[in-house]
Amino acid sequence: MQSFIQIDSPLYLRAEELSSPVDWASLFGNDNPLVLEIGSGTGDFVAKTATDRPDRNYIAIDYYNKGCYKTCRRLELLGLANVRVLREEARQFLLERIPLGSLVAVHINCPDPWPKKRHRKRRLVNRQFLEFFLPYLAPGGDFFFATDFDDYGIDVAEFMPQVAGVTNLLAPELFRFELEGYHLSRYMEKFMAQGKKIHYVHYKKVIPCPAI
Ligand SMILES: C[S@@+](CC[C@H](N)C(=O)[O-])C[C@H]1O[C@@H](n2cnc3c(N)ncnc32)[C@H](O)[C@@H]1O
Repeated sequence: MQSFIQIDSPLYLRAEELSSPVDWASLFGNDNPLVLEIGSGTGDFVAKTATDRPDRNYIAIDYYNKGCYKTCRRLELLGLANVRVLREEARQFLLERIPLGSLVAVHINCPDPWPKKRHRKRRLVNRQFLEFFLPYLAPGGDFFFATDFDDYGIDVAEFMPQVAGVTNLLAPELFRFELEGYHLSRYMEKFMAQGKKIHYVHYKKVIPCPAI
């Protein structure tokens, strides 16, 4: 069994110590736009992306303790001040800690594919998740999804046009195998090295959802 790593980084937040929802502007010390990465793994993607965009605040969540530890180490080594890391489950985190309409972008890279047919319902990203998640995205906010798993990529690409209030920025294609300027995560690099292709889906929220 893996031992639990105590994370002492100033970039690491314990959700139970935060208000509900969180005042992210006072926490970051500025009111820069807020971006969420769900399932940030070891932090490769958020480190590169947050380096490019010091004008944005990034929240990286993953319920993997060692991943959060490595993410904090990486961010500290880079001296990044515009990222915070939490060991949290995505849906619960959104519900409790994110004000509605407050995210300008969300990134979900290589979520667990649950390849066996009988396990597919465990996948994080499906139409129900999108409908739950969209109210947290600001009008004009970006939804990025990337997967190495063909079947997952096609599934998301095919249900997205049925989701109300979003527009496909890759139209007329439903997905692409490249997204210019988009950094690679650790899993993307690993799977590309095995010759696999990444399916990218990119949508923008066009109307405020009824809940906002
Ligand atoms: C296959 S890894 C990919 C990691 C990283 N995004 C990458 O591409 O290198 C998927 C990650 O998502 C995390 N994860 C899966 N479901 C999650 C959820 N509901 N909430 C938070 N993290 C989740 C897992 O712990 C794991 O670290």
